[in-house]
Amino acid sequence: MKTKLLGRTGISVSELCFGTMSFGGDADEPTSAAMYAACRDAGINFFDCADVYNSGKSEEILGRLAKDHRDDLVLTTKCFGPTSGDVNARGSSRRHVVRAVEASLRRLQTDRIDVLFLHQFDRQTPIEESMRALEDVVRAGKVLYPAVSNWSAWQTQRALDIQEHHAWARLQVIQPMYNLVKRQAEVEILPMATANGVGVIPYSPAAAGLLSGKYLGQASGRLNTNKMYEARYGEAWAFDVAEKYVAFCRQRGLHPVSTAIAWVSAHPAVTAPIIGARNVTQLADSLAAVTVGMTPELYAEITALSRTPPPATDRLEEQKAAKG
Ligand SMILES: NC(=O)c1ccc[n+]([C@@H]2O[C@H](COP(=O)([O-])OP(=O)(O)OC[C@H]3O[C@@H](n4cnc5c(N)ncnc54)[C@H](OP(=O)(O)O)[C@@H]3O)[C@@H](O)[C@H]2O)c1
Repeated sequence: MKTKLLGRTGISVSELCFGTMSFGGDADEPTSAAMYAACRDAGINFFDCADVYNSGKSEEILGRLAKDHRDDLVLTTKCFGPTSGDVNARGSSRRHVVRAVEASLRRLQTDRIDVLFLHQFDRQTPIEESMRALEDVVRAGKVLYPAVSNWSAWQTQRALDIQEHHAWARLQVIQPMYNLVKRQAEVEILPMATANGVGVIPYSPAAAGLLSGKYLGQASGRLNTNKMYEARYGEAWAFDVAEKYVAFCRQRGLHPVSTAIAWVSAHPAVTAPIIGARNVTQLADSLAAVTVGMTPELYAEITALSRTPPPATDRLEEQKAAKG
């Protein structure tokens, strides 16, 4: 497993990040521990988490697994989602960010969070307030690097500009959704990240399992048991792309999950895709992404199986001309 520098920080992270969303949910504690051990054996030092994953259980399990060698790890967590019925226990207000960080530190059994993401954009809280809150938790030594997830390019750029203006700790990482059937990030988000030297750790590189091909048969998983994922990937064209993609992989002797992750990794803006799994068998296919020989030709062939998102300016003519 290679390592890469994260954004403009001096820290090196493994070229794959492991997402712990299944810990304490689809994966019980022994299964979570087995996946964690497999990741460490493969050379992963980078683990993604969130306070809302399985109501805090994911952070608790990760904390127990990591505590003996905490200094060898780069841990992320997130805040924004509701953590109780209290009207203020959510969002990116200074009040909630501070309280959420304290609660995450307790569950993770650590004195610092390496990377803290604001999980979604908060339409209710001014960006200035959220960035000041991030600055405060950094100054307090509780968080090392601020980050955002699921923010649009303009929201992220605005945040970066505010931080630069005040000389506050800058966003070093973003976490967008990105895979072969979710390519919106290519239009504005990834170029914005490159222009600012911000690290990118995209989630759902295997389209939450769609690109494994299992939904082309009778399999059950998130896409037919979880309403949010059903809605996210429910468009017929995404299934058509998955079908073409899986047939292509079979023809070439490639594993569809490993290759889907390698395709995300190959984008020059990407630091490390965040892989996910519910057991060690699934995880093995994701870890094998680092062994896929992703040549520029293979990358172009896979990209051509999917829909290219329209350009931000709507000037299709130049996009077509650039393709030749
Ligand atoms: N910031 C955010 O808003 C956000 C959102 C989502 C995820 N994330 C992060 O990103 C991480 C990864 O996301 P993700 O789980 O969606 O990533 P993913 O790699 O696209 O999908 C992983 C899922 O694909 C299926 N899968 C994987 N390998 C398979 C195989 N060999 N055969 C059949 N199915 C297979 C499994 O689905 P089943 O479990 O259904 O079997 C597995 O849970 C999460 O753990 C979390 O840390 C962040």
